[in-house]
Amino acid sequence: MKQLVRNVKIIGTGSYVPELIYTNEYLETIVPTNAKWIEDNLGIKERRIALPEQATSDLASEAGLKAIENAGLSPNDIELIIVATATPDRLAPSTAAIVQDKIKAYKAVAFDLAAVCSGFLFSISAASQFIATGIYNNALVIGADTFSKITDWSNRNCVFFGDGAGAAVLTHTETDSGFLAFRLYTDGRGKWNFTIPGGGSEFPLSYENVDAGYRYFQMNGKAVYETAITVLPKAINQVLKDTGLSINDIDYMIPHQPSIKILKDTAKIIGLPFEKVMTNMDRYANTSGGTIPILLDEVNRAGKLKSGTIILFAAVGSGWTYGASIMKWS
Ligand SMILES: CC(C)(COP(=O)(O)OP(=O)(O)OC[C@H]1O[C@@H](n2cnc3c(N)ncnc32)[C@H](O)[C@@H]1OP(=O)(O)O)[C@@H](O)C(=O)NCCC(=O)NCCS
Repeated sequence: MKQLVRNVKIIGTGSYVPELIYTNEYLETIVPTNAKWIEDNLGIKERRIALPEQATSDLASEAGLKAIENAGLSPNDIELIIVATATPDRLAPSTAAIVQDKIKAYKAVAFDLAAVCSGFLFSISAASQFIATGIYNNALVIGADTFSKITDWSNRNCVFFGDGAGAAVLTHTETDSGFLAFRLYTDGRGKWNFTIPGGGSEFPLSYENVDAGYRYFQMNGKAVYETAITVLPKAINQVLKDTGLSINDIDYMIPHQPSIKILKDTAKIIGLPFEKVMTNMDRYANTSGGTIPILLDEVNRAGKLKSGTIILFAAVGSGWTYGASIMKWS
């Protein structure tokens, strides 16, 4: 029997962020924080906030449609939709099913993938397996989150996140290009260091659990920082080893956007000049599942990606989850 393994590449990108902006200066008026501290330590100046009537699927659908258009396809051509999100519209059905309906991509099988800030990386890896084995040809992978809906706006941790969605269309290619390596990792011992405890089966929606603040995200910032600067270099060095490439071969790093300090420290550890590290957290903060695909879309539409450009993706998030990937653009 012939084993079918095909190369997988990205042929379209899209993104969407809500119009409402919360600046650092605005946050100073609602919680005890400091605009300069936020900018200096996290690299954030402002973030986008979804309207009450905007659900994650609304942002995801906008981004998805733009990616499909950018790929020169129509929703009918999509056979698989994966939505990476930690802020689904509902516990059931999946946000991906709702997106499928909103963009009218009725031929696509659709499901969500939960890996929080690593969600888009995990999802492009998952979609790539379906395409590489010939099960599907065209997949729409979306990273979308609305953390504003699960943020305690009376706690200074409200400065970290923003809302947004990004998407990519993946397909197969005969050329020597596309994803060269993926490495994904999970360490569930980190489950209390970043969590959204409420609304599931452990702490169901109840007056007591809402009063306890369990519907909001909880974060141990120190643990996130220490973990990130340990595991990101580990994953990146592993994909470099897998591909036989050196750090000097990387044209652009398109990473998750936790904080500017984490990215600067990681770049230093792996020996990558910081000019090669793409960021947009000054405008959008951490959009969780949305960070990598929004940034990829910006870099793509800025015309920076040429045939042969080598991109390094890397992410770390709740779980812990983390990983890295290298792709050759074409
Ligand atoms: C957030 C981070 C910069 C805090 O650094 P830290 O030294 O661990 O911070 P601490 O919580 O001990 O706070 C130290 C000081 O920083 C300042 N600070 C911390 N959080 C602040 C905030 N939200 N606004 C303003 N100042 C803040 C305060 O001056 C604080 O002193 P205080 O506690 O006496 O008021 C660091 O932990 C970090 O970068 N973590 C990664 C978090 C992250 O990326 N999260 C998103 C992805 S999941």
